[in-house]
Amino acid sequence: MADRWATWLAERRFGGDEDARRESQEMFDEFRRRVLDAARIEEGDTVLDVGCGEGLIGFGALGLVGEDGRVIFSDISEDVLNVCRAIADDDARCEFVRASADELPLEDASVDAVTTRSVVIYLDDKEAALREFFRVLRRGGRLSMFEPINRFGWPEPDGVFSGYDVRDVRDVAKKIRGCYGAETLVGWDERDLLPWVEAAGFTDIELTLELEVKPHPPAQTRNWDAFRNFAPNPLAPTLQEAMDEALTTGEKAAYVRAVGVGGRGDVVVRMSCSLVSATRTLLFGGLTVAE
Ligand SMILES: C[S@@+](CC[C@H](N)C(=O)[O-])C[C@H]1O[C@@H](n2cnc3c(N)ncnc32)[C@H](O)[C@@H]1O
Repeated sequence: MADRWATWLAERRFGGDEDARRESQEMFDEFRRRVLDAARIEEGDTVLDVGCGEGLIGFGALGLVGEDGRVIFSDISEDVLNVCRAIADDDARCEFVRASADELPLEDASVDAVTTRSVVIYLDDKEAALREFFRVLRRGGRLSMFEPINRFGWPEPDGVFSGYDVRDVRDVAKKIRGCYGAETLVGWDERDLLPWVEAAGFTDIELTLELEVKPHPPAQTRNWDAFRNFAPNPLAPTLQEAMDEALTTGEKAAYVRAVGVGGRGDVVVRMSCSLVSATRTLLFGGLTVAE
């Protein structure tokens, strides 16, 4: 059985629902476009995609580095690296490195761009990872990171769960909520992230923060099976798993009546993300020089 990262990427983020998978693609394409734009990749570059997953960013980069460039797909999960290996189909420009982002087995100053998309959020030691990104970048190299800021939407107000009004089953919802909200994911925000990037050594940094409060339900919430089998991130349980863990049979029935088939009202989702682009510049006599 594949590990939690691979199973989440393949199934659990879509609640096992094909419509959800299809409809999410447009959003992923947009994430990829933005990360690659900010990385300013040129032909011949060596790009390191950290936490590459199924290769959303890495294979996008491969289309930009030309015949002489390289893409290093790096991830903690051998299972997702195997997915990328299969897609790469022996393309000699692709390398695969199993490593944790905070301990990269790469030479100093050996890559032109480092990219991440929803990876740093999962790391216990985010600052150590940023120091590694700085170390492996050559002078003039670029960092492009797109990371969710979960603290914006978490914790939700009392009586709201997953964007739904759960006032009628408030106490039951509270128990379910207790299964979510790992500190690694919600214990920081953009006000921490920028100083971490700076402390790693980057001197030319831009952080763009986006905040959204939207009434549209994601595709996963349209049918009950997809909703209960959906896990919001690889570290989180599905709603079904959380209910099984935290609720009695009676509580489960009450919650399903309130939010299950036909019971769900309008949903309001609060989401936030940050896009960081930074350059490893050379500080020289008070002048900043990008080589
Ligand atoms: C939400 S997925 C994002 C995957 C990919 N970047 C994308 O945009 O689709 C998070 C990825 O981070 C990887 N990951 C988790 N912890 C990691 C660590 N300590 N070091 C490197 N990668 C890690 C997971 O295996 C997973 O592939």
